[in-house]
Amino acid sequence: MEEKKFYLTIPIFYANAELHLGHTYTLVLSDIIARYHRGIGDKTFFLAGSDEHGEKIVRAAQKEGLGPQAFVNNNVAKAQELMKKLAISNDAFIRTSDKESHWPGAQKLWKALEEAGDIYKGVYEGLYCVGCEAFITEKELVDGKCPHHDTAPDHIKEENYFFKLSKHAPELKRLLESSELKVTPQTRANEMIALFGGEGSEKTLADVSISRPEGSIPWGIPVPNDPGQLMYVWCDALSNYISALGYGREDETLFDTFWPADVQVLGKDIVRFHALLWPAMLLSAKLPLPKELLVHGFVTSGGKKMSKTLGNVLKPHDFIDGYGADALRYYLAREVTPTEDWDLTPEKFKEAYNANLANGLGNLVSRTLKMAEQYFGGQVTGSVATALPLRTRITEVSVVGDLAGLTVPYIITNDILPRYHAHMRAYEINKASDAVWELISSLDQYIADYEPFKLVKTDKDAAEKVIWSVLYGITEVADMITPLLPDTAAKIKALLGASEKEGERVFASHVPTEPLFMRKE
Ligand code: ME8
Ligand code: MG
Repeated sequence: MEEKKFYLTIPIFYANAELHLGHTYTLVLSDIIARYHRGIGDKTFFLAGSDEHGEKIVRAAQKEGLGPQAFVNNNVAKAQELMKKLAISNDAFIRTSDKESHWPGAQKLWKALEEAGDIYKGVYEGLYCVGCEAFITEKELVDGKCPHHDTAPDHIKEENYFFKLSKHAPELKRLLESSELKVTPQTRANEMIALFGGEGSEKTLADVSISRPEGSIPWGIPVPNDPGQLMYVWCDALSNYISALGYGREDETLFDTFWPADVQVLGKDIVRFHALLWPAMLLSAKLPLPKELLVHGFVTSGGKKMSKTLGNVLKPHDFIDGYGADALRYYLAREVTPTEDWDLTPEKFKEAYNANLANGLGNLVSRTLKMAEQYFGGQVTGSVATALPLRTRITEVSVVGDLAGLTVPYIITNDILPRYHAHMRAYEINKASDAVWELISSLDQYIADYEPFKLVKTDKDAAEKVIWSVLYGITEVADMITPLLPDTAAKIKALLGASEKEGERVFASHVPTEPLFMRKE
């Protein structure tokens, strides 16, 4: 059977500041998806990177009294440190200032647009918001300021190159309407479709300036055959999705293997760039389009935008240092609906942590291991053939178990695993996580039903079967949380010490020296 490939990208972060919780969400959501696909055997490539050119970076560097390269190097190092702490499993990290890895691809793409007759020289006069790194119209301003950055745009008049976005508008519209270019959730696709022919559409889908004169921002990729112009930072940045695969370099094997992307993850603020400009560039270059754009929402705190002025800025490091990386991954995986805005406060976080990690998962694992230790010295052997009701895979378990003469009603809905997989494949990570915690509750219920701590006094054999079944269920839990909480999954598997022997599963388990998740008061 041919191996399936899976290519996932995330927006390259602006290397102008430290990563915040919004970025952390993009990373964790994507990492879970990538780990899931690796786990089911797909040949997976997960790309991350940093967006290092443009005026925004130059200005931020000046403020710190650094040259742009030294400045971005510092921020990239910090970003990578956070990614490491979070166990982000990206296969590559592309940096747009990397002349060897990135520039050839960006320039090759430019040339492809040029060859298609889609680039021409013109004069741009208008407004530019450095925060957005985008041209902005009078109409979009609120009190003369960019609504996203609350700063007044620059007025610029300069000669630069334009890209014929308008030429590709009809095809873009068709692709979005037919979902051939799928945008999730559909509401985000509808917002884009509304731009075609809607109010202001002549501006949105007008040709766009795609270069800046070298003199105005001396930090970017030179336009091929015209070093007096540098590429517009979004054209430069978007090409990372293919430059990172070797597009434009000598060895394009990765590009041939992985492009088009199976899913490109992004936040709701940059949909236009990804659903209009990027596919238009690809159409122009006659390259395949990504299969899906997955658009996630924004984080707020206590219902308000996080801002220094409000004093409600929450930092990923605080949660990781206080609770552990897997605790933050848990919150982002389960307590957030990917396609919606979400809210975080320290109180909410602690509550979810205590209920579902300290109790919930942590408690189930520790009390089961303690019983295994106390009653059986940690050695518990059984098989699906003799264990009722966890007779086979959890998916196939039926409702009533008959064990050692006891008839105990025992309910595990038998579609947990298929649901988990269906949600994972649809990028509904929160619902996939819900399925895991349903299983955890079922196992708690199972212990409550059979009471192995009593049973062991009257029928040790039966008690062993019960404990065996719970250990078996915990093995399933560990598998299911492997993409979500990789560190915890590995710890649990080590504690279980499972092996197969003559058709039986043997647990040589031990009790952890400290709880997986310490309760927080
Ligand atoms: O946009 N909540 O980079 P970036 C949730 N360099 N997500 C958020 C967020 C918030 N409050 N703020 C930002 C860029 N994000 C460009 C991308 S790609 C060719 C170039 C998300 O550092 C944002 O939506 O501003 C985006 O997905 C990611 O963080 C990087 O944002
Ligand atoms: Mg941004």
